[in-house]
Amino acid sequence: MKPWQDPQWQAEMAVRLEFNYMLDRLIGPEHGLSLDAIRDMAAPMAEVHAQIQRRDGAGKDFLGFLDLPEQDPALLDRVVATADRLASAGDIHVVLGIGGSYLGARAILESLHSPYRNELSRAERRGRPRIYFEGNNLDADAMHALLDRLPQAPGDAAGDATLNVISKSGGTIETAVAFRVFRQWAERTYGEAEAARRIVATTDAARGSLKALADREGYETFVIPDDVGGRFSVLTPVGLLPAAVAGVDIHELVAGARAMAARCRESDLFKNPAYMYAALMDLSYRAGRDVSIMAAWTKRLEFVGFWYDQLGAESLGKQDGGRIPFTSVNSRDLHARGQQVQEGPHNTVVTNLVVGRSARPLTVEQDSTDMDGLNYLAGWDLDRMQRSAMEGTRFAYAKDGRPSLNVELPAINAFTLGQLFYMFEVATLAEGYLQRINPLDQPGVEAYKRFMFGNLGRPDMAGYKAEFDARPQGLPELMI
Ligand code: PA5
Repeated sequence: MKPWQDPQWQAEMAVRLEFNYMLDRLIGPEHGLSLDAIRDMAAPMAEVHAQIQRRDGAGKDFLGFLDLPEQDPALLDRVVATADRLASAGDIHVVLGIGGSYLGARAILESLHSPYRNELSRAERRGRPRIYFEGNNLDADAMHALLDRLPQAPGDAAGDATLNVISKSGGTIETAVAFRVFRQWAERTYGEAEAARRIVATTDAARGSLKALADREGYETFVIPDDVGGRFSVLTPVGLLPAAVAGVDIHELVAGARAMAARCRESDLFKNPAYMYAALMDLSYRAGRDVSIMAAWTKRLEFVGFWYDQLGAESLGKQDGGRIPFTSVNSRDLHARGQQVQEGPHNTVVTNLVVGRSARPLTVEQDSTDMDGLNYLAGWDLDRMQRSAMEGTRFAYAKDGRPSLNVELPAINAFTLGQLFYMFEVATLAEGYLQRINPLDQPGVEAYKRFMFGNLGRPDMAGYKAEFDARPQGLPELMI
């Protein structure tokens, strides 16, 4: 039995929400929420809960993410088998994708592995390849920088490489262009047949040009289910395959999501962390707090913040409303944003991502000279210091009427990460339903694409090109 299969261990690893510093009793009546106001959310939340259970709310065709914790273990086994095949085929693995087809996978890797992972020896990486992400921009310099690291012939010193292209629609320009570039590199380097064995595509079951190309070339493919939207897809092969290639235990990740799903079936928001999070964010937003800061108290969780930025922004930012999520890493960003959160406008709410213990504690030692005057800290480990900084920050915020809440992870591992992903996904759905919007669509993302494709000369977008060309002209003197 693996440690994460032990119910006792699972209970110790439960992610918790602590929200004392949202309340008027700690941050003052002018800025804090009353306990009654939170309790009054029970009725609207019961309605949201019923809607989620019935699956008949807005965006009901995209609720498949709710079931991913219970997905077929045979699929997970297939993901692992393919990951093992890719890992043994090369020491470089390139993942192409953007938005929901990128951020979750990167969040898993950054959370669970050393930031210097790609610099470690293969043995230190436990025989798993280096992983690089591309296809998330139209950035020639970035693309060249990665192409320069790839082998120019099979077996050359750079190490052999494999590719995973991820795109649900198959038509996202950033990923599609990168895939053309990297596919052509692979075919030049390995020849068409071997290149095809080195490429895996994760895409729609039937639609899109990537699916057609994969079928024609014979790439192994994984399906992004029709009823799972991009930013809710981290627990599909979109996030799971890159994670498994890197050696992450994806069964543990999904087990974490399953543990959270059990808690998210509760209708009582005082027992359901996702509903409570949604209720607190909704109440804050309605009280004018339209900027939400995800403050990760470890660099390892910064990309979880970026993943959440996308989840929150694309799900809730519509119909001229929606809070603006952004990520910071503390204590680093207390030296950048701290001043503004402390004394700027009263429009922020802070969610601290706090970790109980680091994987490898570090203790400050005595120094014989004490020239830096730090001997008073001798014996303190950095986790304790970080917690003191976090508690001090919360108290300082509270004194100035600034609300904050904690999402507490006992440790960072695949199990706690799975809980986190699922909790924030359900919370986002519930928050959207509380605000009577469809949190599962993203019509605004299409707006830039229409004019970009028009300008790029895509035949079916000629009308947008005409509209763009007829746009009001700027004044030349405004370029100085
Ligand atoms: O959440 C979403 O739907 C988007 O962020 C998509 O994930 C992103 O636009 C990438 O789309 P695709 O996977 O179709 O390339």
